[in-house]
Amino acid sequence: MKFKALRLYSEDGKRVCRMVDQTLADLDPGDVVIRSQYAAVNYKDARAVTGVGNVISRFPCVPGVEVAGVVVESADPQFRQGDRVTVQGGREFGMRRDGGYSEYVRVPGSWIGRVPQGSDGFDMVGMGLAAYTSAVAVDALMKHGVTPDRGRVVVTGGTGGSSSFAIDMLAGLGYEVVASTGKTSEHDYLKMLGASDVIGRDGLTTGDKPLEEQLWAGAIDVVGGAPLDKLLRSMQKGGVVCAFGNAAGESFTTSIYPFILRSVSLVGVNANHPVPERGEVWQRMMPGGDLHPRHIQDICYRIPFGQLQAHCDKLIASGVRGRAVVTFDE
Ligand SMILES: NC(=O)c1ccc[n+]([C@@H]2O[C@H](COP(=O)([O-])OP(=O)(O)OC[C@H]3O[C@@H](n4cnc5c(N)ncnc54)[C@H](OP(=O)(O)O)[C@@H]3O)[C@@H](O)[C@H]2O)c1
Repeated sequence: MKFKALRLYSEDGKRVCRMVDQTLADLDPGDVVIRSQYAAVNYKDARAVTGVGNVISRFPCVPGVEVAGVVVESADPQFRQGDRVTVQGGREFGMRRDGGYSEYVRVPGSWIGRVPQGSDGFDMVGMGLAAYTSAVAVDALMKHGVTPDRGRVVVTGGTGGSSSFAIDMLAGLGYEVVASTGKTSEHDYLKMLGASDVIGRDGLTTGDKPLEEQLWAGAIDVVGGAPLDKLLRSMQKGGVVCAFGNAAGESFTTSIYPFILRSVSLVGVNANHPVPERGEVWQRMMPGGDLHPRHIQDICYRIPFGQLQAHCDKLIASGVRGRAVVTFDE
């Protein structure tokens, strides 16, 4: 059986991605073979496909850290032909072992989660790492005492995949959410998700002083870099910033004053957990749960597998809105 996969090669010091014909013998070993139906495009997937940074650490490799599909072969007694499953997260799939940008994938059974009754593969990868990471950050804000009555919560990188879900979830829980974005054309989209106000990227703070006007009770930051410093300087007393991204930079400089004079907390979030390890927060994201996003179909849109490379080029060059889901057999 021959099928298509996108494979990243390292050639003469350069990374090159090519759509290639494969057989199962070309894929990494595993107990379960899945026919792919949907795969998501995260920021790190786009970096991998375009050869930016060091997301992939083994060559050649099929990128794509999330896939949903149907089991076609299984040597693991937990899974049978026809089971609807998803593979997402962890440190191997789509980074050190062949991932989801392939019409068939093969993985160890321990990496696989089931698509629950009432959901489908599109919703699973549509939410995926983006919504799960936002859900973990929202849960962390709640656990650190940022309740809706404390004041406004700002989300940076508003139109991005993760941020769109963070806005959706926070608004659904009754928070007054402010979305920060660099895209002036997307204010209606952000309000539709539940933002009560939309500000530009320069609206996170009122000035350059180490402590500025106290604007935010909480913040979810997906961009890092200089904007994270702006947030810290503009938090209310006891405010909490949950940070999990680096789209604006990997490092930043700040002062000690938000921490020692306003008791501001900076909470780091790493949510790169495989589905079988996601536990309670993942369950709360399913239909009926308090963290279930209400706008999956507005945030996510379909692109055919053949357009994946062009989409990744665009995401890295100029950014996109929401979250693309690759379709394999529609
Ligand atoms: N720690 C974890 O476990 C974890 C898990 C998932 C994702 N992440 C990280 O979270 C971040 C977001 O991921 P994603 O998949 O949601 O990415 P995404 O869809 O590309 O969204 C990122 C958003 O950030 C904003 N942005 C981009 N470049 C910027 C810049 N130079 N300065 C300021 N804002 C900028 C843009 O929003 P606007 O145009 O609306 O401003 C963009 O849409 C990434 O850094 C990713 O690596 C971490």
